[in-house]
Formats: sequence, structure tokens, C-alpha cells
Amino acid sequence: MDLAVSDLRKRFGAVEALQGITLEVQSGEFFAILGPSGAGKTTLLRTIAGIERPDGGRVMLGGRNVADVPVRDRNTAMVFQTFALYPHLSTFDNLAYPLREARVPAAEVKRRVGEVAEMLRLTHTLARKPATLSGGEQQRCAIGRALVRRPQLLLLDEPLTNLDAKLRHDTRAEFKRLHRELGSTTIVYATPDQLEALSMGSRVGVLRQGRIVQVDAPATLYTKPDDAFVASLVGDPPINLVPGTLHEDGGGRRIELDFMGLDAQPWRKALAAFSAGTRLRVGLRPQAIWPAAGETQGAGFGARVFLTEPLGDVTILDVMAHGDTRLRMVLPQEQAWQIAVDDTIECAVDVDQICLFAEESGVALHRDRAETAG
Ligand SMILES: Nc1ncnc2c1ncn2[C@@H]1O[C@H](COP(=O)(O)OP(=O)(O)O)[C@@H](O)[C@H]1O
Ligand SMILES: [Mg+2]
Repeated sequence: MDLAVSDLRKRFGAVEALQGITLEVQSGEFFAILGPSGAGKTTLLRTIAGIERPDGGRVMLGGRNVADVPVRDRNTAMVFQTFALYPHLSTFDNLAYPLREARVPAAEVKRRVGEVAEMLRLTHTLARKPATLSGGEQQRCAIGRALVRRPQLLLLDEPLTNLDAKLRHDTRAEFKRLHRELGSTTIVYATPDQLEALSMGSRVGVLRQGRIVQVDAPATLYTKPDDAFVASLVGDPPINLVPGTLHEDGGGRRIELDFMGLDAQPWRKALAAFSAGTRLRVGLRPQAIWPAAGETQGAGFGARVFLTEPLGDVTILDVMAHGDTRLRMVLPQEQAWQIAVDDTIECAVDVDQICLFAEESGVALHRDRAETAG
């Protein structure tokens, strides 16, 4: 079932939790909502589910305005961040509960619970009570309870937030498999975790203070963020955002940072409206900086290492570039082992990965489309 939300608004006293949200999610899509705590994720899901009544705008499910359709008739199920299973009921009875409430005949209940338990790998727990299940099994049981009525739209509100790191990793993969197996079920998945959003969502909507700031495929959010907020939310460790100034010299325009200069040519069109002296923010991904073996062709700078954080496969390096700009870089372990704190290193920057933003608004200045070489 497809979902279309237009100009959705919701206010709680002085707080405008949703400030005109417009979104379209295709039938069968896995759509992630990424936003920090307080951005409005839960309010958005609750409003779509019909638990919350919007102050303005509308929710369309399968092409139908559902303003007057009660929660239980929306073909929609929601799994809450703090899910609660009935502690005195077995997994079977927890899963069966919504069906029994809907007066589904016993034989059909048995069949459907069996199906859902199989899909969620809960069959071995059917006779047990929630307290004897692992965190992940309890989580899957909560999802099973939402799935058992075969909703066409599944709303998941931070379903992994309360699980430990290892379990989160496994469960991410499980969610993708589940989505494939469910076929046509549309999933909207809200999370503050960029890794979850990017790894699972076919598209991601970034929510900031009640507004959607960008909707795109994960790779696009990473390589072409529409503003500095999205840039800093997506990617780990976070992008380095450093000040820069637009300079004019005889030959052409340059972007001067405290520790290096860049040819402004790739952003010629985007910068056309800006005069020399304009202040910019320059985004350097930690993955786009590395120690230069020899001299740096293109962009580079000297820096002093002041922190190394080996993470096993990669090492995060905190360096102080000339002019006291603190930057982070990420290196594969084999490139990092000989680098120590207080070393002075030469760094190269991949100019193609640099993102540029207007200083005040944070709006991205995208590079010109690559002109055909010749
Ligand atoms: N029932 C409520 N009463 C008052 N304020 C609320 C209520 N629900 C949410 N809010 C406020 O609305 C904003 C969005 O909240 P929420 O949707 O829970 O965000 P998220 O799920 O992204 O953390 C927050 O500022 C929150 O404090
Ligand atoms: Mg929430």
C-alpha cells in the first residue's frame, strides 16, 4: 500500500512537532526516517497510524484520505520503541492476541501464528513466556504481533534502540530479509541512527525539527547532502566541517581554508552568485583524507597527530592541521600502524569528495555537472 503525506502539521502547546511534512512512500518500499531525538519521528508515525490527529494536512493510504478512518481500519501496524509484551502470556499467545481480538477462528489463528513465528525465527520460543526470551527474541515477538494481522503498512519506531550492538547488527540483516519475504508490505522505519537508516532504507527522509530536509537514496545523502545538517548526520565518523573563504585572484577563484587552498572551478556555477570574501563551510569526509606518500597532487596539508583510536579494521586519527584546525581521518589499519601521536604527517585530500555549503544557511553548493572532457 502506498503512503502519501502532505503538509502534515501537529502542535503540542508551544512545540510544533510537525511543521508541514510532505512525503510519498511507494508500495512495498523500505523507507527510513532519520532524525535526532525530538525531530518528530514518533509524532509522524503516530499521526500516520491514526493514533494522533493532525492539526493540518492529510494522510493518504492506498490513494485514500484516511482522516476519518480509525486506527484499526487503516491496515497499518506500529511497533513502538518501548514495546511491551504481555508477561504472563507465552510467545504463541502474545502473537495470537491481536487475531483473537479480531475474532479470527482458532484454526486460522494457529496457522498464522505458526507462519509469523517461522518468518521471525521464533518457533522454538512459542511455548515460553517473554521473560525467558533474549532481547532480540522479545523484539521479534513484538514485531510478530504487529505482522500477524498482515498490515499493508508497517511503522517501526526505533525498533533496535534498546538492543545491544551485536544484536543490532544481526537484526538489521533480519529486517532486510523480512522485508523481502513480506513482499508488498510497505515499511516506514524511524531511527536516530544513520547506519540503520542508510543500510536498510531504499530511500531515507531526513527529519529536522519537524521538517523533512532531504529525501534521497542512501548513497546520494552521503555524496550529495543538501545541507550541512544532513552532511553531519550521515557518515561515521562525522564529516569535518571547516570554514573557508572565497578568493579571487587573477587566474580564477579559489577557496582558502586555514590550512590549504582549493581551486573553486568545480563549483563555478554554484558560486557564480557569490562575491569574493564570501564565507563558506567546507566538508571533508574523514574517509577522504589520507597520509600522502610523496608530494600531494591537488589538495593537501601538513598536520600533527594528537590522537589515534584503533578500532580493529580501521583507525581514527585526530590531527591538528596548520592553523589549528582539528580534523578527523579514517585509515585502514595497515596504513595507520606506523603513525604515532605527535608525528607530523603530510595529508592528501580527495577533492572529488569535498562538499561545500553556504556559511549562514548551511545550504549545499553542489559542484557543477562534470563537463565532458576534451
Ligand atoms: N504528547 C506530547 N506532548 C507535548 N510535547 C510532545 C508530545 N509528543 C511529542 N512532543 C514534542 O514534540 C517534539 C517531537 O517529539 P517526537 O515526535 O517524540 O520526536 P522523536 O520521536 O523524533 O524523538 C519534541 O519536542 C517533543 O518534546
Ligand atoms: Mg521517538
